[in-house]
Amino acid sequence: MSDIVVGLDIGTSNVRVVIGEHDENEKLHIIGVGTAPSTGLRSGVIVNIEATMKAVTAAIYDAELMSGHEVNSCFVGIGSTQVDSLNSKGQVSVSNKSREIGQNDINRVIECASNIAIPLDRQVLHVVPQMYTVENSVDIVEKTKDPTNMLGSRLYVDVHIITATTTTMQNIITCASRSGYTVDGIMLKTLATAQSVLTEEEKELGSILIDMGGGSTDVIVIADGAPICTASVPFGGLLVTNDISVVRGVSTETAETIKISQGCCWADLVSDNEEVLIQRNGRAESIPRSEICQIIQPRVGEIFEMIKEKVYSSIGNRRLSGNVVLVGGGAKMSGVIELASAIFGTQSVRIGMSSKISGLSDEYRSPDFTTAIGLVVANSDVLSKGNIKRNGKDYGSDKSGFLQKFINFFKEMF
Ligand SMILES: Nc1ncnc2c1ncn2[C@@H]1O[C@H](COP(=O)(O)OP(=O)(O)OP(=O)(O)O)[C@@H](O)[C@H]1O
Ligand SMILES: [Mg+2]
Repeated sequence: MSDIVVGLDIGTSNVRVVIGEHDENEKLHIIGVGTAPSTGLRSGVIVNIEATMKAVTAAIYDAELMSGHEVNSCFVGIGSTQVDSLNSKGQVSVSNKSREIGQNDINRVIECASNIAIPLDRQVLHVVPQMYTVENSVDIVEKTKDPTNMLGSRLYVDVHIITATTTTMQNIITCASRSGYTVDGIMLKTLATAQSVLTEEEKELGSILIDMGGGSTDVIVIADGAPICTASVPFGGLLVTNDISVVRGVSTETAETIKISQGCCWADLVSDNEEVLIQRNGRAESIPRSEICQIIQPRVGEIFEMIKEKVYSSIGNRRLSGNVVLVGGGAKMSGVIELASAIFGTQSVRIGMSSKISGLSDEYRSPDFTTAIGLVVANSDVLSKGNIKRNGKDYGSDKSGFLQKFINFFKEMF
C-alpha cells in the first residue's frame, strides 16, 4: 500500500485537496495539491450532494495529476455551525494494586469523561484530553499532560468534547464514497488547521485561531496545549461580497473582483486619492477606494465581534498570552491584521501559513490552504504514531458503526 495521506477540505467557496507522502526517513512531503470551485454548500453545510461530488472529484483529480498517485481514501474536514463542543470531566480509581497508572486507566478515565448526554441527532467527533490530575492517598495532587507510570489512587481528566450532527457527517461520507473514495477519518477543520499553523509555544500560551472562509467563520482556542473552545458563525467572505454588490449596485462577480483586487478592511490604510474602477451597466466608473473600505470594514468587524463574543462567553476571563492567528480566504484581505488587533485588543495578531511543510510550492503557502494541509499533517502524525488505524472499505453498510469509528482520542496530538 502506498504511504500517502490525503486531506480533503470541502468548503463553501472551494474544495481543496492535499496529498502528502512520507519519505524513507518518515519525513512528510506534499506531493500533490488540487482545488475546485464549490457550489454545493451553504454557510459551510452541504446542501447539494451532486454538486459537491463534482467539486470533490475535480479537486482530487487535480491533485492526482500533480502527484502521479491514485487517491483511494482521504481524511475529510468538518466545520461550521453543525459542530459543537463542551468541556467535561471524568474520574476513576487506579486499577493496578501497585497504584501505577497504565494505559487502561487513561482509557477508562477518558471513557468516563466522554459519557455525556448528547442530543440524538449528534455524534461525538473527538475527545481531546486537556489535563490529567493524579491524586494519591495522602492527598497530594499533581497535574500532568501524561500520567502514564505515575503513582496514584485516583485519576481525573478534563476533556474537550467535539460533537457534530449525524446528518452532516453522513453527507460528507456520502459525497466521498459516491465519488469513489473511502473516508479514513473525519476531523474538525480548525483542529487540523491548528496542527499546520500554530507553534507549540502559541498552543501553550493560549491562542485564538480564526478561519474566515466564504460561508462561515470558525474559531478554535488552544491553551496549555489543548483546545478549550471551538465555535462557528455562519458568515464569511461571501457576505462581504454581497454587501459590495448591493450597496454599489454591481453584479456579484464584479463585487468579488473589486473585493479581491482593491478590498481593504482598515480605513487608515487607504489614502484619500485612491480610486477603484468598477464596471456598472456596461460603463466603467471610478469611485474612491475609501468607499469600498467603508462597506467592508463594518461587516468584517461584525464577524470578528461575533467570534470574540463566542470565545469569551465560553472561556470567561481565562488569560490568553499567545497570538490571534488568522487563516482562510478572508485572511488575505488587506487590513485584516489591524482590524483584528483593534477588536481583540492585542498587537499579537498574525496571518497563519503552513510554512514548515516541505514540497509545498509558494502558490499554496497561503492561509486558505491551511486546513487541507492540516488534515494531512495531523493525520500523518497520528497514523505514524499508530493512534488511528486506516479504515477498511467495508463500513458503508453500517453507518452508525462507521461513524463510531471516528471518535478519536487525541492523546498524542496535543
Ligand atoms: N485576496 C482576498 N481578499 C479578500 N478576500 C478574499 C481574498 N481571496 C479570497 N477571499 C475570500 O475568501 C473566501 C473564500 O475563502 P476560503 O476558500 O477559505 O473559503 P471556504 O473554505 O471555501 O469556505 P468555508 O470555510 O466558509 O466553508 C471568499 O469569500 C473570497 O472572496
Ligand atoms: Mg474553509
